This record gives sequence, structure tokens and C-alpha cells, in this order.
Amino acid sequence: MKRIAPRSTLTAVLLLISGTALAAGAKVPLDQAQTDLGNMASIQRGAALYVNYCQGCHSAEYMLYSRLAEDLELTEEQVERNLILTGAKIGEPMVSTMDPADATVWFGAPAPDLSVIARSRGVDWLYTYLRSFYVDPNRPIGWNNTVLANASMPHVLWQLQGIQEPVFETQTDETGVSKEVLVDLKLATPGAQTEAEYDRTIRDLVTYLEYQSEPAKLKRESMGVWVLLYLALFTFLAYLLKLEFWRDVH
Ligand code: HEC
Repeated sequence: MKRIAPRSTLTAVLLLISGTALAAGAKVPLDQAQTDLGNMASIQRGAALYVNYCQGCHSAEYMLYSRLAEDLELTEEQVERNLILTGAKIGEPMVSTMDPADATVWFGAPAPDLSVIARSRGVDWLYTYLRSFYVDPNRPIGWNNTVLANASMPHVLWQLQGIQEPVFETQTDETGVSKEVLVDLKLATPGAQTEAEYDRTIRDLVTYLEYQSEPAKLKRESMGVWVLLYLALFTFLAYLLKLEFWRDVH
């Protein structure tokens, strides 16, 4: 018994290292999300998608519904009617009704809190991740993802996007060992949206997640415009002043 313990620790460490190496090796190029926090309609559409499709499993502990009303230019009644699907009160945080322990049992991993996910992963990563699910009969939930290999999250938007299948290619390395490599995804069953529409849906959703990760950014950006106008005005005044001062000199 005593001799096995250290060895299993070693195995665990080795597994951890090889897992990290695999994850790092499987870097896929990311598509540009091109989000625009100045586009309020996009953030509002994203919020509606988020509460309908994501909040069943994910929480955003740091986000209050009342803040949503304030920032998204909505009345509290509009938020209560359209965005609160969990029975929460307007002053409460946007938490999921699902118990994280249940998620671990059902999906093999807890659904992480998404409050600051756009800051930790980046918008391009999110945009690519949410468009890169494919069917994989070898996974317990039947789905896999090219960006997050062996992800435990099912493709919750498959009815919109449709079903993607992997395209494999046999590649031989310099030692003569050949293996199947995933090179592309193809849309095997179309969904309710075209590819362009689905891209826009995901852009809206990611724009919302970007806002949620840093709600103050919204105000900062609108304030930035005024700061620039203020500077422009004072540059102009300084210029007039200069003309005035130098008029007598010439
Ligand atoms: C049925 C439950 C469920 C729903 C609904 C769901 N997710 Fe997930 N999600 C999970 C689980 C479980 C994980 C953990 C996956 C893992 O670590 O392998 C996850 C992971 C993620 C991650 C990766 C987090 C990270 O950094 O590793 C993101 C991003 C994410 N979900 C976004 C979303 C968005 C956006 C939606 C709505 C469109 C959504 N999820 C809907 C269960 C769900």
C-alpha cells in the first residue's frame, strides 16, 4: 500500500503534464470575432440568446439583472419579462438554477461561471469555440470541439447551426508513422440558420459576453467620444489664441 501511493501520484503528475502538452499542441487558428460594444442592438440580442441558451447551466455571479437594465437601456419591467427566466428578482445576480454538482455528474465537468470568460479566454477564442462543435461518437455526450478538445459541453445551439462532421486526412510524419488528422469541419445537416446568420448570432452572443466581462467598458467607450471632442475643441481654441497672439508680431 505504502509503495503504491507515490507511484500513483507520479502517474497523476505525468498524466497532467501530457494532458497540458496535448492541449497546447492542438492549437487551432482563431477567427476574428469583430465584436462592437458600441452596437447596443447586438448586445441586447446577445443577452436574450445568453439567458435562453446558456444560463440553464452557467452562472454569472458578478452580474446583476438590475445592472443589465441600466446598461442595456431597458426598463426593469422589460428585463423581468424577457430576460429573467429563472424566477430571480431584479436585484439578484444572474445565477443558473442548475446545481454545479449535478453538472459534474451529467457532463463530467462543472459548467464554469461565465462572468469574466471574455477576459480570460478572449473574444476570438469564444467566437471560434461556439462555431466549432462537431459530432463525435467516441465522446460520452456525442459532441467534441476543435478549440477545446474533448470538451464536456454539448453543442446547445445545434438546431441553429446544424450538425458539423469532422473531415479527417491521413498524414505521415518523417518517421513514416501515419495517423488520422482532423483538417476541417463540414456541415452535414443544415440548421435553422445559414452560415452567415449563425456567425452573426455568435457575434451577438460574444459581444454580450464581452460586455458582461467588463460592464464599465460600455460607459468608458461612450465617455471616450466626449473626451476626444473636448480635446478637439480646446486644440481649436488654442489655435485661435495663437493666431491672436502672433497677429501683431508679423
Ligand atoms: C447543458 C449545459 C450547458 C449549457 C446549456 C451551456 N454550457 Fe457551456 N459548458 C458546459 C460544461 C459542462 C462546460 C465545461 C466543459 C469542459 O470543461 O470540458 C462548459 C464550458 C463552456 C465554456 C468553456 C469555458 C472554459 O474556459 O473552459 C464556455 C466559453 C461556455 N461553456 C460557454 C457557453 C455558452 C456561451 C453557452 C450558451 C450558448 C453555454 N456554454 C451553454 C455546459 C453547458
